[in-house]
Amino acid sequence: MTRFIDTDTMATLVETVGIEQLLTELCQFIEHDYKRWDQFDKSARLACHSDIGVIELMPTADKQQYGFKYVNGHPGNTQKGLSTVMAFGALAEVATGYPLLLSELTISTAFRTAATSAMTARVLARPESKSMAMIGCGCQSEFQAIAFHTLLGITEIRAFDIDPASIRKFVTNLALFPNLKVITASSTAEAVKGADIVSTITADKTYATILTPDMVEPGMHINAIGGDCPGKTEIHHEILRRGKIFVEYEPQTRIEGDIQQLEADHPVTEFWQVLTGDSSGRDSAEQITVFDSVGFAMEDFSMLRYLHKTALELNLGEDISLVPTMDDDPKNLYAMLGNGRAATTIRRVA
Ligand SMILES: NC(=O)c1ccc[n+]([C@@H]2O[C@H](COP(=O)([O-])OP(=O)(O)OC[C@H]3O[C@@H](n4cnc5c(N)ncnc54)[C@H](O)[C@@H]3O)[C@@H](O)[C@H]2O)c1
Repeated sequence: MTRFIDTDTMATLVETVGIEQLLTELCQFIEHDYKRWDQFDKSARLACHSDIGVIELMPTADKQQYGFKYVNGHPGNTQKGLSTVMAFGALAEVATGYPLLLSELTISTAFRTAATSAMTARVLARPESKSMAMIGCGCQSEFQAIAFHTLLGITEIRAFDIDPASIRKFVTNLALFPNLKVITASSTAEAVKGADIVSTITADKTYATILTPDMVEPGMHINAIGGDCPGKTEIHHEILRRGKIFVEYEPQTRIEGDIQQLEADHPVTEFWQVLTGDSSGRDSAEQITVFDSVGFAMEDFSMLRYLHKTALELNLGEDISLVPTMDDDPKNLYAMLGNGRAATTIRRVA
């Protein structure tokens, strides 16, 4: 049987574990996998582009398990009452190909993206960082804010979005975190001014320039999340040139990240190398650091591993017959149809 987690079950799982606890544990899972980078099969995701969006498949595997995510990115979807980003995926045994877990991954993507952002910022941002600008207050934003509050000790968020309703939603959703002060701003420049960390999480399928060089101050860490497709950027190229750039998986980020604006040999560091000590992170308090995130399959693999373990421990979700169980004769797939019934159906069609 394959364990199945739908969005309601995911919500129950989050409620049972607690958001902050979940982010803490998930971050440990992602960090653990990043530190064993060499053990993974890695490839840039397979993207199917249209004029208004993209649908992507994100596979990866270690020696024991295989995972994949199906995810879309349609910035115009919110005008139709649909999400910009929706996802689902599976975890399977490498030894047999048997699927262990089929799961929702929309809520999970927000969690794993936030946990990855916090994992990188914990190493790259100045240790005394307390404030963060949040540019873009859509689906991902609260998860990012809570992750930075929980895992880095960020206590002040300055929020801006071109849609005032999104800012109001962001403020309301974070009201239950008494030690997190949320200040609203009337422009990106106002939100960014004096912030230790700047998160850009906007959605627009265009070469956007959300952050311009005049807004960026020495020592800032930029958590650039929304520029994640060819022709979809957020950060002015001058900022990228001034900063030290960290990426997830270079071959994928060269195509999809904000660094698509730079020369193909502009130096970047894959973040796993910082975790293993193979490369340095921030070199000085004045340095501008940029995490040019596009989302990498390994983060979803970590999430799927975490979900599978937690769902079994808490007995959440249900076991479904996603693939046939043929204990009597594994070569007799036809018997799954119920021999007589299938024959009758064929006669009726004829
Ligand atoms: N790097 C990753 O791993 C990763 C993971 C998930 C999502 N994303 C990307 O993050 C982005 C946000 O995702 P979401 O699910 O929150 O989308 P969303 O549509 O729910 O929210 C996006 C928000 O950005 C705002 N916005 C658009 N242009 C803006 C601008 N110029 N200035 C300020 N705000 C602006 C919109 O009004 C909206 O509220 C998307 O581009 C998505 O593709 C990246």
